[in-house]
Amino acid sequence: MSIKTATIDGVATIEIARPEKKNAITVAMYQAMADAIAAAGADNAVRALVITGQPGIFTSGNDIEDFMARPPGQGSDSMDSPVFRFMRALVECEKPVVAAVTGAAIGIGTTLLLHCDFVYVSDEARLAMPFVGLGLVPEFASSLLVPQLMGPARAAEKLLLGEPFTPEQAVECGIANAVLPAGEVVNHARRIAARFNALPPGAVREAKRLMRAPQREAVLQTIRREGELFSARLRSPEASEAFQAFFQKRKPDFSKF
Ligand code: COA
Repeated sequence: MSIKTATIDGVATIEIARPEKKNAITVAMYQAMADAIAAAGADNAVRALVITGQPGIFTSGNDIEDFMARPPGQGSDSMDSPVFRFMRALVECEKPVVAAVTGAAIGIGTTLLLHCDFVYVSDEARLAMPFVGLGLVPEFASSLLVPQLMGPARAAEKLLLGEPFTPEQAVECGIANAVLPAGEVVNHARRIAARFNALPPGAVREAKRLMRAPQREAVLQTIRREGELFSARLRSPEASEAFQAFFQKRKPDFSKF
C-alpha cells in the first residue's frame, strides 16, 4: 500500500508514499485516501487532517499507466469510482484539512489543494495542471475554482497551456497560505493542524460548512461534469498519443488530429 496513515495527538496524517513513481496515485491509492478521510471524519479523537507527500515530491498526479489500464467508468458509473470517491470525501470533509506540499504537485496534486483549508508549500515545489496537454480536461472543479481565484486570463495559462507555476505564485493567487523551506513544511502543517485541539470542534465544523456552503453545489456539479468528459477523453486518440509519448519519453505529436 502506498498510502500511509497515522493519527497522533488529534491529527490524522495521510501520506502519499510511492516515491519510485513520483507518488503517482493509483486507483487503489485513491480508494485508500477516500477511506482514510472518511475514517478521520468519523473518529472523535481527530480534530484535523494533514495530507502530505515525500521529500521533493507531493504527487505527480494520476498514475497514467493505471488510468490507461483501468479508466474510471463513464456516465453515472464514473461517480462511484475511487478517484471520485476521494474527491467527494475531500469536498465533504467537515474537519479542517491542511496540505503540506513537499515538492512537485502535478495534476490532482494541485487541484486537490483547492479543497484543503490550509496549504503550505515547499520552496522547492512546482505546481502544474497539464490536463489539456495530455488530451484531457481539468478536473476536481478546477475549471470553476481556478478562474475564480486568479481570474480567467491567468487561469488560461495554467489550465489551457498547462504552464507550471511557483509556490510564490500559488500564495499570490490564494491557492496557498505560505512558502516554507523544504525541511519545515510538514512540521509546520502539523502545528497548524494541532491548533484545532484547542478549539471547539462543533464551532469549527459549522464555520467550515458555512464557508464552503455557497459553492458546494456548484463544486459537486462541476466535478461531475468534468468527470464525465475526463473519463471520455481518457479513451480518446489524443490522450492515447499523449500517454504513449510520456512513457516513450518523447514529445507528443498532435499534428494528425
Ligand atoms: N503516472 C505514472 N507513472 C509516473 C507518473 C505518473 N503520473 N509520474 C512519474 N511516473 C513514473 C515515470 O514513468 C518513471 O517510471 P520509471 O522509473 O519506471 O521509468 C518514474 O515515475 C520517475 O519519473 P520521471 O519522469 O523519470 O521523474 P522526473 O524526476 O524526471 O520527473 C515529474 C518528475 C513529476 C516532473 C514527471 O515524472 C512528470 O511529469 N510526470 C507526469 C505528470 C503528469 O502529467 N501528471 C498528470 C496526470 S493526469
